[in-house]
Amino acid sequence: MKPHVLVNVASSLDGKISDETRKQLRISCKEDLQRVDELRAEADAIMVGIGTILADNPKLNVKSKELRDKRLLEGKTENPIKVVVDSKCRIPEDAEVFNGKVIVAVSKLADLSRVEKISKKAEVVVFGEEKVDLKALLEDLYNKGVRKLMVEGGGTLISSLLKEGFVDEIFIYYAPIIIGGAKSPTICDGSSFSAPLKVEIVSVERLGEGLLLHLRVLS
Ligand SMILES: NC(=O)c1ccc[n+]([C@@H]2O[C@H](COP(=O)([O-])OP(=O)(O)OC[C@H]3O[C@@H](n4cnc5c(N)ncnc54)[C@H](OP(=O)(O)O)[C@@H]3O)[C@@H](O)[C@H]2O)c1
Repeated sequence: MKPHVLVNVASSLDGKISDETRKQLRISCKEDLQRVDELRAEADAIMVGIGTILADNPKLNVKSKELRDKRLLEGKTENPIKVVVDSKCRIPEDAEVFNGKVIVAVSKLADLSRVEKISKKAEVVVFGEEKVDLKALLEDLYNKGVRKLMVEGGGTLISSLLKEGFVDEIFIYYAPIIIGGAKSPTICDGSSFSAPLKVEIVSVERLGEGLLLHLRVLS
C-alpha cells in the first residue's frame, strides 16, 4: 500500500522550474503561494529530493499560523512530516528542513558516519542499493500513517516517481515567464520514458497572473 501522491510544482511557460544556476527562483505569484500553503496544510508528509534541499534549503513548513492552528485542532502536528530522498546522505546538518519530524531516506551507498550524524536530527531509513527504493519508501510512509503525500520537487525525483507509476495527481502553476536554458531543470528530468505518460486534464484556471493546471495521471 502507498499514500495518495500529489506533485506540486511551479514552472515557466517553457517548463523550467529554475534556471541554469539551479538556484531557487521565485516563480509563483502570491495567490499560488497561498494555494501551496493550503496543500501543505492538508498533507500528512511533504517530500523533496536532495537536489532541492541543496539548491533551495527550504523549511517546508506551513506558513500560515491559521492553517497550523487548524492542524493542531485536528490533532495533527503543526507541520507535516518532511521526507528527504537522499541516497548518499548528503544533507547538511544545518539544513533548514530540520525542524519538526523529518525522515531522511538513504540507500546502502550512504556513509555510516554521515548516517550517524543525521540520525541525531532526523529518522534515517535505508531503502535500496544505490538510489533510494521509492516503492519501499512509500510503503514505509504508509505504514507510518501517511495517507496524503505532497511532493514538491525537483524534476529528478518527480521523474522517478512518474516513471514508477506512483503519482496520482499533479498541480502545475505556469507563471507567464520564459526562463530558457537547455540545462535548466524542468518539471520532469531524468531520462525519457519508454512511451509518453498520459494524463487527464482535470481543470485549467487562471490564478493570479498565471495558469493553474490540475492533472490526473492515468494508470
Ligand atoms: N519551481 C519549483 O516548483 C521547484 C520545486 C523544487 C525544486 N525546484 C528546483 O529544482 C532543482 C532541483 O531539482 P533536481 O532535479 O536537481 O533535484 P531533486 O529532484 O530535488 O533531487 C534529485 C536527487 O535525489 C536523489 N535520489 C535518490 N534516490 C532517488 C530516486 N529513486 N529517484 C530520483 N532521485 C533520487 C538523487 O541524488 P543522490 O543520488 O545523491 O541521492 C537525485 O539526484 C533546483 O534548481 C530547485 O530550485 C523547483
